[in-house]
This record gives sequence, structure tokens and C-alpha cells, in this order.
Amino acid sequence: MNDIQFIIKDKYNHHLNNSNLKSLINDLNLLSRGYPRDYIIGYVNFLNCKIDLSQKPLIPRVETEYWLEKTIPIIKENFKGYETIKVLDIFSGSGCIGLAIAKNIKNSLVTFSDIENSNIKQIKINLKINQVKNYKKIIKSDIFSKISSKYDLIIANPPYVPHSDAIKAPFEPLKAIKAGKYGLDIIKPFLSQVSSFLSKNGLFVMEFHPDQVKAIKTILIEHGFENFQFYRDQYGRYRYVIGINQRKVPHTNFTLEL
Ligand SMILES: C[S@@+](CC[C@H](N)C(=O)[O-])C[C@H]1O[C@@H](n2cnc3c(N)ncnc32)[C@H](O)[C@@H]1O
Repeated sequence: MNDIQFIIKDKYNHHLNNSNLKSLINDLNLLSRGYPRDYIIGYVNFLNCKIDLSQKPLIPRVETEYWLEKTIPIIKENFKGYETIKVLDIFSGSGCIGLAIAKNIKNSLVTFSDIENSNIKQIKINLKINQVKNYKKIIKSDIFSKISSKYDLIIANPPYVPHSDAIKAPFEPLKAIKAGKYGLDIIKPFLSQVSSFLSKNGLFVMEFHPDQVKAIKTILIEHGFENFQFYRDQYGRYRYVIGINQRKVPHTNFTLEL
């Protein structure tokens, strides 16, 4: 299916008539100028959740959906026996990661945080649409500045694109994407503080750009992490890291590759 067929199916439900033809022509104009199909449709599906995009957050990526799907069984196994798994979805954007965790891990209790007011509004909309009740709160915070609790799981897709590459997504919020010359301007302060906000045996999961794997390994070692593993995405590129706050490797079927 091409983008036009997707729009006709997902936005118009295959019902085209005189009253919505003008709107479709407008959509096709936007599409021809490179405007993202998912903004035109207004939502995406993401791991059993419908993610509304009306406030124009970052559009959830298939790489993120892939690693989250792979990670959910690891989280369940690692926190087996916990009555409640306290989760922080930091850099939430649309809230897609935290919403998918809340929907797919019934004993999770999710807190969302992001720096942008528009995303705070977007997360509220998405919590409502997906009828998610196992969430604690939404916090407007610059990285950890307004976070005060400890969490069993901190899950993060920070901005990580080097300045020169950000232009590849010209219609999405730059603050969600670019992060300095090497794309590490948010990752560095995040990783340097994350252990202070993790409970004993807590886990963190973080997405990154494949070129950053060595730099991230160095940062983690500098900050005393001994147990972390890098994983690849569906295209065979290193894309996410899971680390633990204690000297114990989380239950996974993967072997340490780096
Ligand atoms: C790559 S997007 C991830 C969005 C969503 N979690 C996802 O996976 O689709 C990064 C998010 O971090 C937020 N952000 C950027 N700088 C931040 C900061 N200093 N503190 C907190 N959030 C920030 C952006 O507003 C954006 O929503």
C-alpha cells in the first residue's frame, strides 16, 4: 500500500464523497510537499495502542516499536514476583512507550515526563484514548530536574541525532530529535544521573543511534555501570542498551556482544 492508499483507508475509512474531497486534496498537497503521512492521518498504531498525533509530537518509529516488543518479556521476567513495577517513561513525547508498557504489563505503574507542554497535553489525550488507568502522573521536567522518586524501570528514547542530520525530519519537533554535534548532549546527562533514580536492581533501557555505541559504552563505564548489554534493531544495527543498577545481569536470552 502506498501513502495515498493508507490515508484513504486510515483517515477516510474508504468513504470518499463530495464533502471530504476537498480535505483529501489538501492532504495530497501536504503529502507532495513531504509532510508526514502519519500527521495527515492523525494517529499511528503502536503495540496495541492507538497513538494520537494531534499535538505533533515525534512520530513513533518502527525501530522503537521493535525493541520495546523485544524488551517487554525481559521486563516481565526480571521483575517476576513484584506486585507493582514502578516505571518512568522519560522523554515521553507522544507517550507511546509508557502507554505500551502500561497496556502490556498489567502490574506496571507508569510515570511520564517530557520537557514540552504540547507533549504533556498529548500524553493526557493518549491516556484517555487508550483507557490506561495504571499510570501515576505526568511530569514536566528537563531530564531529571523535577523527578524525585526512584523507579524499578526507566525507559528512554532521548533526542540523539547529530545537528547535521536533523534536517532529515523537517516537519517534526527539532527538540525531539537533535542533540548537539555528536547527538550526545542529552544522553550524557541522562546516563550520568540515571542510577540515582533507579531502585536497587532497577533496569534502564535507552534507544540511541548505531554510531554512538562506543561513546555510550565509555560513558556507562565512567559512571560505574558494570552490567549492560547492547542490542540490535530489526535492521541489524545497534539500537538500544539495557543496564542494571546492581552487579547482576538481567534475565535475557542474549549474549554480550561488546
Ligand atoms: C526522540 S523523542 C521520543 C519520543 C517518544 N518517547 C518516542 O519514542 O516516540 C525525545 C523526546 O524528548 C523530549 N525532550 C527533549 N529534550 C528534553 C529534555 N532536556 N528533558 C526532557 N525531555 C526532553 C522531546 O520533547 C521529545 O518528546
